[in-house]
Amino acid sequence: NEKETIDVCGKKYQRDEWTNVTPKILSHVGRNLHLQEKHPLGLLKNRIVNHFYSQYIGRTGNPIFSVFDRLSPVVTVEQNFDSLLIPKNHISRLKSDCYYIDSGHLLRAHTTAHQVELIKSGIDSYLTVGDVYRRDEIDSSHYPVFHQLDAARLYSKHEIYKQEDISGINLFENGDETAEKQEVHTLDTALFLQAELKACLEKLARNLFGEDAEIRWVESVFPFTHPSFELEVLYNGNWLELLGCGVMKQEILANCGITDKVGWAFGIGLERLAMRLYQIPDIRLFWSQDTGFLNQFRKATPTSPVTYKTISVFPQCTNDMSFWLPESTAFSPNDFYDLVRQVGGDVIEQVTLIDEFNHPKTKLTSHCYRIVYRHMQKTLTKTEVNRVHEDIGSEATRLLGVKLRV
Ligand code: PHE
Repeated sequence: NEKETIDVCGKKYQRDEWTNVTPKILSHVGRNLHLQEKHPLGLLKNRIVNHFYSQYIGRTGNPIFSVFDRLSPVVTVEQNFDSLLIPKNHISRLKSDCYYIDSGHLLRAHTTAHQVELIKSGIDSYLTVGDVYRRDEIDSSHYPVFHQLDAARLYSKHEIYKQEDISGINLFENGDETAEKQEVHTLDTALFLQAELKACLEKLARNLFGEDAEIRWVESVFPFTHPSFELEVLYNGNWLELLGCGVMKQEILANCGITDKVGWAFGIGLERLAMRLYQIPDIRLFWSQDTGFLNQFRKATPTSPVTYKTISVFPQCTNDMSFWLPESTAFSPNDFYDLVRQVGGDVIEQVTLIDEFNHPKTKLTSHCYRIVYRHMQKTLTKTEVNRVHEDIGSEATRLLGVKLRV
């Protein structure tokens, strides 16, 4: 039965109670913006790749890092979560946060999903770039599809200790976990990896934002690294979160069959970085096929300092919608955000939950959302906006079981 199967990248999957990916989301699979040489995301990706190619060269004169930028965005739950030690009850697995194809497959929520397969295949150092999918709020810097660049680097004992006799040195011990190290790492091992990781990323940040960029390290937590950090850069007076990183959990390497190496990993989101570097004001622009956008990057190389110029700004149009939530079924604001995108497409600029109210007698909950409409190439008329707004209302009634308030 055609209705019960779903086609993704030429493969058929049986729909089940986990399936929540929409045709609108699937239409982004295969666009591969990061592979387009003259697209801002392709330019930024190549800038980072070239930096790693030129800065990290092995004894034979070849780059240390291999690049994987065509791995399928369809991954298993095992790849995206289990292989990275993400607990079964972790919030990042929720159906309200991911795009599931079926109970065993999803559109990857991070490019870290490829870490274990790459390391298992014998690769010690890699960069991987790709599109990732997350159900999220809607505003000028959030879009359910974005791009990440992940990296990992492994070291053997002789790569860490360059002296002749390393027989008395141990990378591992049977110790305790502290804020600085995992239980199986010696403090020296942990401090070496932390120093290498931070030096590598500070160099990258200075390459991207200039030699005197102000940067700071913030402690963080990821299930797959310890210790973990985030790097922030001061940009126009605001601290901008650039990336997450840390020392790879030794248990992950052990699961890959590796007992004699240690390593670090990081993951960078490309859109927010590109928005700052090229001064692109709205994340939806990356998906634009309009030549007014694309031509501004047509002659660029990865290192040219392009500044995006807004051709003209079309006005916003704001419309609110209030409804009672269904009584018997679960409702998450992300369900509504997806529906708004599904119906309204890219004329939706922002959706915000502006009011929540619990009726004391009926015990029903009401939500009010403010929807901001804006077309990127023309002025929307009130009639056009009202038509979309009404469609959103009736689809929300039909599919989510809400009851509109008028
Ligand atoms: N996957 C993490 C994220 O999406 C980033 C990360 C990658 C952190 C690798 C640590 C190591 O936020």
